Amino acid sequence: MEGLGVVSYATMGLATSASAQTGAEFIGSVGTGMMPEHMKKGEVHGYDFQKGPVDFEALLNTYKYTGFQATNFGYAIEEINKMIKWRLSDEPILPDESEQFLDPEVRKNTRCTIFLGYTSNMISCGCREIIRYLAQNKMIDCIVTTAGGIEEDFMKCFKPHYLGDFALNGPFLRKQGLNRLGNLIVPSENYTGFEEWVAPIIETMHQEQKEKGKIFSPSKIIKRLGKECKDESSVYYWCAKNKIPVFCPAITDGSLGDLLYFHSYKEPGFIVDINQDIRKLNSMAVWAKKSGQIILGGGVIKHHICNANLMRNGADYSLFINTGQEFDGSDSGARPDEAISWGKIKIDANPVKLYAECSLVFPLLVAMTFAKTWQPRLDLPK
Ligand SMILES: NC(=O)c1ccc[n+]([C@@H]2O[C@H](COP(=O)([O-])OP(=O)(O)OC[C@H]3O[C@@H](n4cnc5c(N)ncnc54)[C@H](O)[C@@H]3O)[C@@H](O)[C@H]2O)c1
Repeated sequence: MEGLGVVSYATMGLATSASAQTGAEFIGSVGTGMMPEHMKKGEVHGYDFQKGPVDFEALLNTYKYTGFQATNFGYAIEEINKMIKWRLSDEPILPDESEQFLDPEVRKNTRCTIFLGYTSNMISCGCREIIRYLAQNKMIDCIVTTAGGIEEDFMKCFKPHYLGDFALNGPFLRKQGLNRLGNLIVPSENYTGFEEWVAPIIETMHQEQKEKGKIFSPSKIIKRLGKECKDESSVYYWCAKNKIPVFCPAITDGSLGDLLYFHSYKEPGFIVDINQDIRKLNSMAVWAKKSGQIILGGGVIKHHICNANLMRNGADYSLFINTGQEFDGSDSGARPDEAISWGKIKIDANPVKLYAECSLVFPLLVAMTFAKTWQPRLDLPK
């Protein structure tokens, strides 16, 4: 080291003199080494268990200042709370505002349209009950999910899923008629009750198509199933009751698809019209005064909501929670910044991506947002 000027982190700001001594080249200016005011977001610290009995809410409130994904969890709470709190009355009246939205009462009661998307496994796991709570209390305006996310909600009205283990042996389970889903088990017999219940409803809908010319879209099928199930534990029972549309563009990729396939042999010609739904979903985004998206997982559900928001030049508030990475170019892993480039999120928005497994964080997020800050909707004057 002799003859070399020692450059510590503390002296890096003095790099010019250090480099002069060592002959090492420092490229560019290194500044003062002090945190600029405009970059300060808070000081890093965690929860202090020394303070006494554990206060879980205080613990979760320290996440924002903890760093890494804990900080993103803190931002996720803030992003959802912005969706919950926004009212049209917070905004100035635009010169081209329509008559309907000039009334101060209407403005006070016009909220952000919240799109909730989730992969099928969110219904397979205990997040089903969290989502049911959101639907039951009309906290969300629209759902987008995949086929498993529809059928497993109804299946659970008949029989439960069971805890298993990620390591359970596939051939062994196959011989037992047990299907593994991560560390959950869905016995084959669970499909029986569901299929026996759905098959006649498909037949009736087909009958209505033939006799009354009624054409069903996936959202209409889901609404019909929600109405027929009459089970308050079901997410889609509450969606049907509370007029929350549920979109499932890939409705055939699961047991529901198998049943439609079997039905097509019994009686061909049943039409499922996805075109009705794309119009309905996109129109919701277009006409929303403010739009928020909460997307758990990736794939079709993530893109479908983002694409709908493209129709309005981007969502105002966005939260992506998933484990996807962007290096493979997947839409699942794409960060919100990529969605901004496409116009799916507004340029001036502050979207959040939380890299996390949803079953771990979504219940906590709901605890810190909807369950805490939601105010029931008032009926708008007629
Ligand atoms: N229970 C089931 O999972 C089930 C059942 C029947 C049919 N299917 C069908 O399988 C197909 C693929 O399922 P999918 O599109 O719902 O999503 P998927 O399970 O393929 O997940 C898509 C992406 O979402 C992210 N993701 C998924 N689970 C996550 C979690 N717990 N936490 C964080 N990120 C997560 C990952 O990036 C993943 O690659 C669909 O067509 C669906 O209908 C699934």
